[in-house]
Amino acid sequence: MNVKDPHSYADPSQPRTESLSLDIDVDFDRRVLSGTCVLTLASPGEGPLDLDTKGLAIRSARTAGGADVPFELAPAEEVLGSRLRLELPAGTRQVAIAYETSPDSVALQWLAPAQTDGKRHPFLFSQCQAIHARAMVPVQDTPAIRVRYTASVTVPEALTAVMSAGPAGEGPGPRPGTRTYRFDMPQPIPPYLLALAVGDLRGKDLSGRSRVWAEPGVVDAAAWEFEEMESILRTAERLFGPYEWDRYDMLVLPPSFPYGGMENPRMTFLTPTILAGDRSLVDVVAHELAHSWTGNLVTNATADHFWLNEGWTVWAERRIVEALHGEKETSLAWAIGQKALDSAIERFGSGSPMTKLKMDLRGVDPDDSFSSVPYEKGSRFLVLCERAVGRERFDRFVREYIDRFRFTSITTDEFLAFLEERLPGTAAAVGAGAWMDEPGLPANAPVFRSEALESLTALAEGWAGGRRPSPAEAAAWSPSELLVYLQHLPRELPAEECAWLDANLSLSGRGNHELLVEWLTIAAGSDHEPAFGRIAEVLKRVGRMKYLRPLYTALGRHERTRALAREVYAAARPTYHVLSCRTVESVMGKYPA
Ligand code: BES
Ligand code: ZN
Repeated sequence: MNVKDPHSYADPSQPRTESLSLDIDVDFDRRVLSGTCVLTLASPGEGPLDLDTKGLAIRSARTAGGADVPFELAPAEEVLGSRLRLELPAGTRQVAIAYETSPDSVALQWLAPAQTDGKRHPFLFSQCQAIHARAMVPVQDTPAIRVRYTASVTVPEALTAVMSAGPAGEGPGPRPGTRTYRFDMPQPIPPYLLALAVGDLRGKDLSGRSRVWAEPGVVDAAAWEFEEMESILRTAERLFGPYEWDRYDMLVLPPSFPYGGMENPRMTFLTPTILAGDRSLVDVVAHELAHSWTGNLVTNATADHFWLNEGWTVWAERRIVEALHGEKETSLAWAIGQKALDSAIERFGSGSPMTKLKMDLRGVDPDDSFSSVPYEKGSRFLVLCERAVGRERFDRFVREYIDRFRFTSITTDEFLAFLEERLPGTAAAVGAGAWMDEPGLPANAPVFRSEALESLTALAEGWAGGRRPSPAEAAAWSPSELLVYLQHLPRELPAEECAWLDANLSLSGRGNHELLVEWLTIAAGSDHEPAFGRIAEVLKRVGRMKYLRPLYTALGRHERTRALAREVYAAARPTYHVLSCRTVESVMGKYPA
């Protein structure tokens, strides 16, 4: 840890934590985790050791010998939480902290049985990226450090616990009716990759090294959707080098999960909205898998350098998609990404510092800076480098980059220095300075073309002039083709035109949520009453922020749809994750009074 992270109280001059050992009880009645966390330091400490906490109640701190360690919990700061300062006696290598989380921890969502597929058991999941690990465990919560961990997790005996770690046995718990699951994560990870989920879970093997977990009523559909997992893994290994994390398991969560996917090592967390029934949304899995190299092996040193995680991973994801599904499909993926980038730049304003790659997020909540910019602008910068030096040289560079920085955390400048070392002159040739430090999208951004893309956008742009796809033509489109078409239609249409679209392209009945939400966004913005029922249904069931933002935004256009949004949010709010609530409230806060 040689970087001062603006989002952590961790002090680089103090010893860094090398490993964690957790022993926790999952209490569904009180909605808290309680237990102890033993921190082992990389070198013996003496004097202050500053940790991050958020909403944690600290019961005690003791050395390995059992001596009390004096501690002080500072008043909570809105974004960062409370600094926990321990006063270590000389020679302290280990400290055991007894603590409890708060029932409204930002890192945890506690679901009532009604929010699950099976409706009989509660469910718990964590989401620690970017700075929420501190609301689950007292830690130096900065990706500038890496920790190994072991854990012992006691849950009600009907439920199963999974973590971002390897299983290390299970057995009866300390009290009747409980069961304890043990885990071991031998590879060092940044704290934001700590992850835990507990629920009525079943696993189904996909290959010798991959299994999908989900509730019993969902697991078969999940296994079918991800059947090609082993071939995705092999493709990724061929491109980026050996998979270093042993197993690649996945967990399909209930629909309130606020993201599409989260790359928790050995156990990717996924939204059930990617179970489209036709394997058309497995690019999300390709993305989370690609983080096994870009993100989990080579990690952004702080949230300011988040583009190194996500830009690289989108680049890698599209290389996997290209290898598996060809150039046409990949050009459509870039076009879909372009729309997301355009709308993010429009939302912040093209001069906004939030549209830079290299950020300065001092005083800013990383969740508030989250957008498609690091993803789509970052990956476009890398394509530009790739095109400048040719694919062969760039692929070699990628291997060298991963090899050089594996299991470390780096800044943008360290990346640029390595680029200059291995591909001299490239940064200057592509104007890297402007890409990193200027807002908006530079004029030399790469262009992606394909015949399918040209004809779909031309057809959509002819909408106002009366051009329509023939039913046979539209029926032959792949889901990505249909999505590109919908994305290029006007955002507000007269009632008859909405009705035409819905009837001829069978939109409201879609299970593919990318398509469904794109259509419902048009319908919402068009004040199209026949779609109100489906809009309300989706918003009350799904908590994925990627869908809530455009839908609630589009509902803001008309008075009647604003009323619908308010009514739906009042009903859905208790089922949403706190991050989803924040997103919706920030959108609705901009509605006219
Ligand atoms: N690591 C992100 C999710 C994330 C980012 C969580 C920042 C919290 C803070 C994950 O890899 C991701 O990018 N998910 C995308 C998937 C997509 C780009 C295919 C998502 O959730 O939509
Ligand atoms: Zn990602």
